[in-house]
Amino acid sequence: MRYIEIGKVEPGMMLGKGIHDIYNRILLADGKILTEELIERLTELGYAGVYIEDELSKDIRIQEAISLALRNSAVRSLQELNLEKAIEFAEKIVDQILEAKTVSLDLMDMRSFDDYTYRHSVNVAVLSTVIAMGMGYGREDLIDLCVSAVFHDLGKMLIDKDILNKPGKLNCQEMEAMKQHPQFSYDMLSEKWNIPARVRLGALCHHENEDGSGYPKGLTGEKIHPFAKIIHVTDVYDALSSRRPYKEACSFSEALEYLMGGCGTMFDKEVVEAFLNYVPVYPRGSMVELSDGREALVVENYPRNLLRPQLRLTDGTTLDLLNQREYRSLTILRQAGGTLVQAYES
Ligand SMILES: [Fe+2]
Repeated sequence: MRYIEIGKVEPGMMLGKGIHDIYNRILLADGKILTEELIERLTELGYAGVYIEDELSKDIRIQEAISLALRNSAVRSLQELNLEKAIEFAEKIVDQILEAKTVSLDLMDMRSFDDYTYRHSVNVAVLSTVIAMGMGYGREDLIDLCVSAVFHDLGKMLIDKDILNKPGKLNCQEMEAMKQHPQFSYDMLSEKWNIPARVRLGALCHHENEDGSGYPKGLTGEKIHPFAKIIHVTDVYDALSSRRPYKEACSFSEALEYLMGGCGTMFDKEVVEAFLNYVPVYPRGSMVELSDGREALVVENYPRNLLRPQLRLTDGTTLDLLNQREYRSLTILRQAGGTLVQAYES
């Protein structure tokens, strides 16, 4: 299967990966032939793209970092504000990731506008756990980090919905209100449970920047809790690569470029480096545009050589950018259909 952004999906294409709601109900099953009406509906609902099955990509299987059932259960516990359950799910997320040992982060998360907030929190938790595992964290540390990431935006519940959902730029007053949400997350976590201080600190400091330009306290470098440094990176990455009512999703390579651009000023260098080791620039099953103008499918990524994957041209020819000398001068320009990085607001 391969991933196609929603604007490029055409009637007659076959769905390769079904679409489910948070109750695990199938909205559209694998194998469904997409019609114009279905594509229109998916666009309205806010899906950034879908996986389709075709001749070119029939041998490509996309693995998920955690099971769909666990992801949906965790999302549901947050939506229902069953916070004790959400903590239990955080523990299960860590255990599934630890069991898998090699974690594939190839799956492009499929979500609608409606379930964005909760899916975002779970996605940030999964990404943070994978990155921290790569940085050498043990199970107990991973669980606390994962809980912190699941709840990092809990305080947004107390922010005016009109500000949260405002399409476009926030004015100064609205921005000041928005900047209170990490403190609210911290306060809500402090009041509700007897949970470790580091879980609360991860949420409190997730918008702090290395150079002191972040909020709520303007902390610098070492004063920022290590959990928050990880959550900061995964939060921005996930927000950038999401489609929102007021912006298109930017491509994964553009989101990664943004992280690299902010390395040392916004983001911690070690965290960004760990991130780059685990999150492919061009995930398997995505389409890329080459420097000679051709489009190709990403078939395999090579660890530590993520800019030189194995590709398949639309006529079926294999191009191994790492191992085939004749393609040395060929480079990937961009993920096919990518959009420009837009400013990250909140
Ligand atoms: Fe936040």
